[in-house]
Amino acid sequence: MPPTDTTTPPAATGAPAEAVTPLMRGIAVLRRLTDADGTLSLSELERATGLARSTVDRVTATLARMGFVRLDGRDAVLTPRVMALGNAYLDALRLPGLLGGHADALADALDESVSLAVPDRDGIRFLHQATRRRAMSLSFRIGDLLPAERTAPGALFAAEWTEAEWVCWRERRAADPEDRGFPAVPPRAPGRPADGELFEERTREAREQGWALDDQLIEPGLVALSVPVRAPDGSIACAASVVSHTSRHSAASLRDTLLPRLRETVAAMERELRQAAEAPRAADAVADAPAAEPAEQPLAAWTAASKQELGREFIESLARGLTVVTAFGEGRAELTLSAAAEATGLARATARRALITLEHLGYVASQGRTFRLTPRVLALGYPPLSRTSLPQIAAPHLAALAARVHDSASLAALDGDDIRYTARVATTRVMSVNITVGTRLPAYATALGRVMLAGLPPAERHARLTRNETRPLTPRTVTAPDALATLLDQVADQGYALVEEELEEGLRSIAVPVRNGTGEVVAAVNVAMHTVRRTAEECVTHVLPELRTTVAAIEADLHIAGRFARIPLT
Ligand code: PHB
Repeated sequence: MPPTDTTTPPAATGAPAEAVTPLMRGIAVLRRLTDADGTLSLSELERATGLARSTVDRVTATLARMGFVRLDGRDAVLTPRVMALGNAYLDALRLPGLLGGHADALADALDESVSLAVPDRDGIRFLHQATRRRAMSLSFRIGDLLPAERTAPGALFAAEWTEAEWVCWRERRAADPEDRGFPAVPPRAPGRPADGELFEERTREAREQGWALDDQLIEPGLVALSVPVRAPDGSIACAASVVSHTSRHSAASLRDTLLPRLRETVAAMERELRQAAEAPRAADAVADAPAAEPAEQPLAAWTAASKQELGREFIESLARGLTVVTAFGEGRAELTLSAAAEATGLARATARRALITLEHLGYVASQGRTFRLTPRVLALGYPPLSRTSLPQIAAPHLAALAARVHDSASLAALDGDDIRYTARVATTRVMSVNITVGTRLPAYATALGRVMLAGLPPAERHARLTRNETRPLTPRTVTAPDALATLLDQVADQGYALVEEELEEGLRSIAVPVRNGTGEVVAAVNVAMHTVRRTAEECVTHVLPELRTTVAAIEADLHIAGRFARIPLT
């Protein structure tokens, strides 16, 4: 199928007359950035989209204002906030939330990767990945699109295709003989076993057997077994797959040994879907799916202020159009035009043109008077960002903090009785110990460690303080367990730790905790300085607010990125 994300004006492309050209351009930029793993220079974007440089500048400035892109020198970089778009789709669909835990439990039980995928035209797109870390074989990311015929789920989905869908599939195969339209897979090798012709036969078998195999159709070594997960109405909601490598399983042994376990899990998933359909939709009432930044203030006020500030660099119709995507969510899977207008605060005519544009580009589908998001929304940033870690999320925020306070800023995690630095932006070297990512220091004598210890459940905090060997590192180091316990209570109350010359003479550090979406302390951020730079009071009045702003931004990114993806903390 030819890509419909075109960058030329509607008139030239058969787009409906009402289509919003700036929205099409903004989406084209997000798509190119996603396919390039999240980063392109502005000149590369100009080339990849065919847009004029001034247009690229205005589109990226608008996306930056929305918090979807960060401008870093000459580069445009996707930020975790853009995942709010994919989250709207995944929240509306509900499948990852309902079935993800079952997939994770099966992956743990089998020690093999397990994934969930949905049909996306003549491809399959991943919704969930419970991945084992292994040296061999590539693993796919949430949002990756694969050609149906080179996968196990594809044969299950194609069992329900209409003749028109088979025609589209044959046309796509002919038009794209190397699978260039699927950047997540290695190119189709010319002359490799004719997976295309085999596909119709595999589809027939899948229909009869109720399962399908992928015997190294994507790359040598990769094997997968899939079973359809049916919705209460009998339609296929998604496919659950167990994925392995020929060093552990042949395709046949995967089926012989693991099909019963996979079927048990799928039966549990189907029960889950039936219960969700029957249960009063309590979740709907509390649908708090975070919308993109603008929804925090009325959109109209936010766009007006942005326009005022950025002038012609800010494209209102692009910002409004993307906001329409975030009108969808849990309990808001299907929206009428009026509901979409109401949820976003947009005029009906504006919401209508945005929906028409999104439908033309394949991000929205309509049935009667209602609209819903399609899996293609995940192509707007999800795959590269679903693989970010907390240190990667924190890095640009630490750089901004260090630039504002003119002192070093770091992120650390608790690792046994130590803290371990996981990201750092150094300005001057105020410490004699040379700190780099990976450096470990005793938790009890550092501000970073104290905020993390203070965040532990009381029993664990107590156990650590009494078990630990604490020794003085300077004449000021507090080592007595009782004294440390009192200090940690204080830290927990005030929400920060200030440590003066307990780790090293002449060094002061102030730190605040970083919490995940459920409120658990998962890391800490500090600013370290020479004691002569400021007084302790100045540190609290000047540096602490900056630290708090920084951590709020890191947490906002972490909560959006961690909504459906598992974000490593180190
Ligand atoms: C995967 O989850 O990585 C996967 C699933 C099915 C396939 C290939 C890969 O056929």
